[in-house]
Amino acid sequence: MLTRDEMLSHLKAKRPVVAPSMLKCDFGNLRRETELLDSAGSSLLHWDVMDGHFVPNLSYGPMVIERVRPLTKTPFDAHLMISDPAKYLDEYVKAGCEAITFHLEAVPQPVSLLREIRKRNLVAGLAINPGTPFSAAEPFLRECDLFLVMSVNPGFGGQKFMPEVVPKIAAARALAGNDLIISVDGGIGRSTIKQCADAGCDVFVAGSSVFDEPCYTAAIAELEQTATGSRSAC
Ligand code: DX5
Ligand code: ZN
Repeated sequence: MLTRDEMLSHLKAKRPVVAPSMLKCDFGNLRRETELLDSAGSSLLHWDVMDGHFVPNLSYGPMVIERVRPLTKTPFDAHLMISDPAKYLDEYVKAGCEAITFHLEAVPQPVSLLREIRKRNLVAGLAINPGTPFSAAEPFLRECDLFLVMSVNPGFGGQKFMPEVVPKIAAARALAGNDLIISVDGGIGRSTIKQCADAGCDVFVAGSSVFDEPCYTAAIAELEQTATGSRSAC
């Protein structure tokens, strides 16, 4: 497992990072999916945790993540779309996540939880929904390692990208400089990734645009190339 500092260097060195959203993988075959993502060269796996309360959908919890942990060395980011992330923090630590991201809408005073995550030597992430203005997160960015801008309303994969959130990426980059890892999640694909990259995003969560493709290696490579501008979007 990578420490927080190692994770931060890893993500910065590998950017643009396409992080497959495990919500869209084949749950009947997690071992095979993990192997395929490893051979595709994934730098981060994104685990969407939903509680049926903070979002209107249920997914999986730490028991599933913990069983997949020994199958790969690729770091894990748990995206907690749950109402009380502090209560469950240590279960995700024990499951072997290197990064833990929770929502400002669930924890309006996030400083102590961000500090608790950092204290455990993990990357501390804060997410905001499309309807939450950047100004609401701004006071807390210095306590974050990762800032996740949601480009769909959380709860489901396969939704349409909301371009109106892109200025939040640019605002975070302008304010926080290069140290902050900025991520975007929801509707990321060949036609939407470049505008986020141009705004300063480092990590692109991608569900449908990886798992709906026949070859994960080609899908991830094409997204990364489109983000860097070495291939034009089509
Ligand atoms: C939405 C999740 C996303 C989602 C991404 O609540 O946080 O990670 O699964 O899926 P796509 O890329 O299909 O929008
Ligand atoms: Zn997510």
